[in-house]
Amino acid sequence: IKYVPEPFRIKMVETIKMTTSEERAEKIKEANYNLFNLRGEDVYIDLLTDSGTNAMSQDQWAGVMRGDEAYAGASSYFKLVNTAKDIFGYEFIQPVHQGRAAEKVLFPTFLKSGQYAISNMFFDTTRAHVILAGARPLDCVVPEAKDPGKRSKFKGNMDVEKMEKLIQEYGPEKIGLVVLTITNNSAGGQPVSMKNAREVAAICKKYNIPLNIDAARYAENAYFIKRDEPECANMSIKDIIKEMFSYADFFTMSAKKDTIVNMGGLIGVKNAVENADMILKIKANCISFEGFTTYGGLSGRDLEALAIGLLEGIDENFLRYRIGQMEYLASRLDDAGIIYQSPVGGHGVFVDASKIFPNIPFNEFPGQVLAIELYKEAGIRSCDIGSYMLGNDPDTNEQLEADFEFTRLAIPRRVYTQAHLDVIADALIAIKERAHEITRGYRITWEPPILRHFQASLEII
Ligand code: F0G
Repeated sequence: IKYVPEPFRIKMVETIKMTTSEERAEKIKEANYNLFNLRGEDVYIDLLTDSGTNAMSQDQWAGVMRGDEAYAGASSYFKLVNTAKDIFGYEFIQPVHQGRAAEKVLFPTFLKSGQYAISNMFFDTTRAHVILAGARPLDCVVPEAKDPGKRSKFKGNMDVEKMEKLIQEYGPEKIGLVVLTITNNSAGGQPVSMKNAREVAAICKKYNIPLNIDAARYAENAYFIKRDEPECANMSIKDIIKEMFSYADFFTMSAKKDTIVNMGGLIGVKNAVENADMILKIKANCISFEGFTTYGGLSGRDLEALAIGLLEGIDENFLRYRIGQMEYLASRLDDAGIIYQSPVGGHGVFVDASKIFPNIPFNEFPGQVLAIELYKEAGIRSCDIGSYMLGNDPDTNEQLEADFEFTRLAIPRRVYTQAHLDVIADALIAIKERAHEITRGYRITWEPPILRHFQASLEII
């Protein structure tokens, strides 16, 4: 397929280091085969995450200079809040320093011990904040999400039948919150349809359960809706977003993704009058954990860049190019017979490493094997989204087997060119060709009790 040309030109560049394969073999060994231990400067193409790694525009950088650093009531705060109110149609907007801060401030206001929260799939920190609030998370994604090779649209959707069964089984009073994650990161950046959001909202209303959107990649999600959901084909991206958010009561957002800034987050409340008490609690938590309500843990310059990024991130030409990058990379993998979560999602390609290394068992971490090989092959940093990341059963301490053994190639926004994408595809193809030579994976020699993948040490078996 054709690469969609960049709707921008390059004004400032950042030199990246080229390394030899001998140097990389040495560096990854020194890093105990954990890519989080590598220095950024030793990486050629960094696909560890699309979060906070995006390139800001000249307007955003100009905004950084204009940022108002007043402690209270800065003009940058009002600019941000007014822009967000206009895009989402929500009456109350609270800035915070990143997505997990939004979760930390908002979730304890709904959830308490003995309750449950249901999601199409919780992101790790979202899951953690449900647990920290004393409740338990229940994932409820449509079954086709678990089959990477099966191409079906809107694989990020909530399984609404299962959701309603769960509510009846546990009792509606036990379900403190429903979280709709758009796009569904853990399932491969897969979108949620407008129809699905409407159905989820109807069930929440029927049982009187609040609905929160985890909005990290809401603009990419809106683009997929416009492209693939006929009833929305003639709507603008902005109208799609407004309708989608009208179905929920609240949103939490990591602005480090679709809002194209390096740091920031938001909380939104749709009805300010109805939720007046809730807003008081949000403000109180924000002041305790983040900072005064009109800066929420951000500098004035961050608020300003975020206000501008909100608008740049929903530009249809930008989104066409952005999703076009994923489609281009995915089409090169199709040509080479490399299986990934398909059709490709919004923020990266999730390669099915278990298909490249069919003989490496889950407890030798095929996703991590592929991530290490990509670094050795071409200096590309990616990460395992599989059994290595999942970890051990907290009760028995046995290694758990994940639903997927993915290696995630997350693409930062406005950062890499078509030639970089070709380097990535060529590296994957080269690894696939020599994959039969790699028959064993890795063993963990040290690990912390939780979120081990960030810090663990590994060795070759
Ligand atoms: N929700 C989703 C869907 C996310 O993907 C993330 C972060 C968060 C919440 C938390 O936001 O990092 O600003 O605190 N995802 C990043 C990733 C880290 O690499 O996928 P945060």
